[in-house]
Order: sequence, then C-alpha cells, then structure tokens
Amino acid sequence: MIGRIDPHDAHAFDSWYEAYREAWLDGRETGGVIPREALRGAVTAERDDAAHQLHAAWEGDRIVGTLMLELSLKENTEYAEVCVTVVPDRRGRGLGARLLAEAERRMAELGRTVAVAEAPVPSGWSRRSWPGSRFALGHGFTVGLEEDSLLLDLPVAPELLARLRPDVGDYRMREWTGACPDDLVEAFADLYTVMQRDMPSGDMSYVPEVWDVERVRALEARRARAGTVALVTVAQAPSGGLAGFTVLSLVAGEDVVGQEDTLVTGAHRGHRLGQALKVHNLERLVRDFPDRPAVRTWNAVGNGYMRDINVALGFRVEERHLELERRAAVTGA
Ligand SMILES: CC(C)(COP(=O)(O)OP(=O)(O)OC[C@H]1O[C@@H](n2cnc3c(N)ncnc32)[C@H](O)[C@@H]1OP(=O)(O)O)[C@@H](O)C(=O)NCCC(=O)NCCS
Repeated sequence: MIGRIDPHDAHAFDSWYEAYREAWLDGRETGGVIPREALRGAVTAERDDAAHQLHAAWEGDRIVGTLMLELSLKENTEYAEVCVTVVPDRRGRGLGARLLAEAERRMAELGRTVAVAEAPVPSGWSRRSWPGSRFALGHGFTVGLEEDSLLLDLPVAPELLARLRPDVGDYRMREWTGACPDDLVEAFADLYTVMQRDMPSGDMSYVPEVWDVERVRALEARRARAGTVALVTVAQAPSGGLAGFTVLSLVAGEDVVGQEDTLVTGAHRGHRLGQALKVHNLERLVRDFPDRPAVRTWNAVGNGYMRDINVALGFRVEERHLELERRAAVTGA
C-alpha cells in the first residue's frame, strides 16, 4: 500500500526516514544522505517558496519504499523534485516503478510537468549499472548536470591554511554565525540571487531563483529551528559592497560539516577571493569546532577553478552525482 505521511508526526517521519536512509546509503562506501533533522526541518517548515510531500510504501507496518516530492512555489512552478527509494531487500519487484508512477499522478494533480531527480554513482560503477541511476535512465530521465562530492578530513593543518591564505589587498573578510547583520542583509540577498544565476546548472532547464531579504531571513529561521549552525564569511570590497560569500553548515546530529555555496561576483573575480573565503571559514571551523571529523562539498564537473581550490585544501573525490530531468511528454514509467 502506498500512502502519504504527515511529517509533523514524529514517529511516522522517523520510520519513513529510516527506510529512506537505509535505501539511499545502501552499497555506497562513502557519500552522504540528508541528515534527519535537516530533512525534518525542511519538510515541516511553513514556507512560501517550497512545499514537500512524503509518501511511503508499506508492507504490514514496515515501510519498504519512500517517495519525496519537493515543489518550488515561487520559480519553476512546473517542476517537481522526485526522490524514490526502495529498501535493499525489496528491490527488483517493481516497487520503485510503482512509486514513480505515484509521483507522476501527484505531479499531474499539481500541474507539474518536469520531474527532476538526483542519483549518486559510486566509484567502480557506471551510470548504467548502479541501481539508482540505472532506474532513472531506464525511466526516461536524462542527465543534465554532473557533480562530484568531495570530502576533507579534519583537522586541516593550520600551517596549510596559513600558506593557502592569499593576499587580497583591500578586500576585507567579515564573518557571522547564524543571522546576517542587518546592515549587510540586502547585499547578502543579492549575492544569493547572483549565486543562483552563476552556479553551474549544465543542461538542467530550471530558472535561477531570485532572493530577497525575506527569503534570507526565512532560510536563517529554518536553520535555527532545525538546530543548524551556519558559519558565513563574506568578502567586502573597498567600496563597502559585497564581493562574495561562503557558508559552512553544521547540522544537528550530523558530524560531517557541509560546505555549501561559495560565490565571488563577476566584477571581483581574479583576486583569489574564492580561496580567501574558504580558507577563512575553515580556520574558524577548526578553531571553534575542533571535534568535527570532516567537511563535505559538491563540485560541478568542469568547474576547474573551484576544484583546484578544493584539491589544494585537501578535499578528495568521494563519488559522482547526477542531476537528471524528465518532461511529462517523455513517458517511460
Ligand atoms: C532505484 C530504486 C528506487 C529502484 O527500486 P526497485 O524497487 O528495485 O525498482 P524496480 O523493481 O521498479 O526496478 C528495478 C529493476 O527490477 C526489474 N523488475 C521490476 N519488477 C520485477 C519483477 N517482478 N521481477 C523481476 N524484475 C523486476 C525492473 O525492470 C528493473 O530492471 P532493470 O534495472 O533491468 O530496468 C532502488 O534501487 C533504490 O532505492 N536506490 C537508492 C535510491 C536511488 O538512487 N533512487 C533513484 C534516484 S531518484
């Protein structure tokens, strides 16, 4: 039986999450899964820019498969992010296909015509042999973007960070934990908009999000509610304007720190600000949270500049990730 889960029901959400986590991590020696509290926070938040639906496939009172739909409400309102999982001992019986068909029904109800999905491809596997990517490709999805996830073991030697800290002249690093100071928040929201526009999106067809102060404050509030600590560093230009930013995120219940967005705006590139931002934020992390074992980041394949910085810092590739999409006209399920 397939039915909807109320994410506010803690027991229901926890059972759903256990199945999702087991399926998502199965067979991968490394690589991450969305941490429980981060996901709970994301799917229970009242927000005006996204909504989520959780569905489960039950066998008796055991959840054996999961479906999550993420729906953008501001931009990309014809899209739905679709994530299907089946626990390892129930695979190869058509349950994945049934959950995907359920996703299609829900999308049709909501007038959503483009499905977006993500699948890891661990090293040693091809996209046609790994069950997740094989499933998506077999159901008519096409690859729009390839990324690598990378891991950096901590602590990073302070001497290495000191050596990699570039001279950035009159640019100044400013930092905060949690909420952006009021005097910077408008400029910070603009950086998020530029980030959405500039980050590699390959052949994915969605449009970039437009951010404003309200959206930044809502993100900060969601993080705070979920117990996520965000370490933010921005680069301030001699004129006072913001030239770039980077975010490390420490999620409740998850030891590995997430290296999120890093951006330097076009006008300020060429001053090694990307490296300066990352080094600065890592120095804070190592100093203030010395027990954290590692940092994980994602790097679009072909984004050589960011890759070079990450490699210099000691990040190593864990696995490939594919972002895929499928328009309703292309049926395969
Ligand atoms: C991807 C995933 C959901 C597939 O679940 P599943 O229940 O095994 O999916 P299905 O049973 O519908 O299809 C798997 C295979 O079994 C085959 N199959 C379906 N019913 C069958 C049956 N009754 N007897 C034999 N084989 C069957 C399908 O044809 C398919 O074969 P193929 O790979 O040669 O095309 C599962 O592997 C998983 O959870 N992976 C981790 C999460 C993930 O990566 N999700 C995908 C990204 S959204």
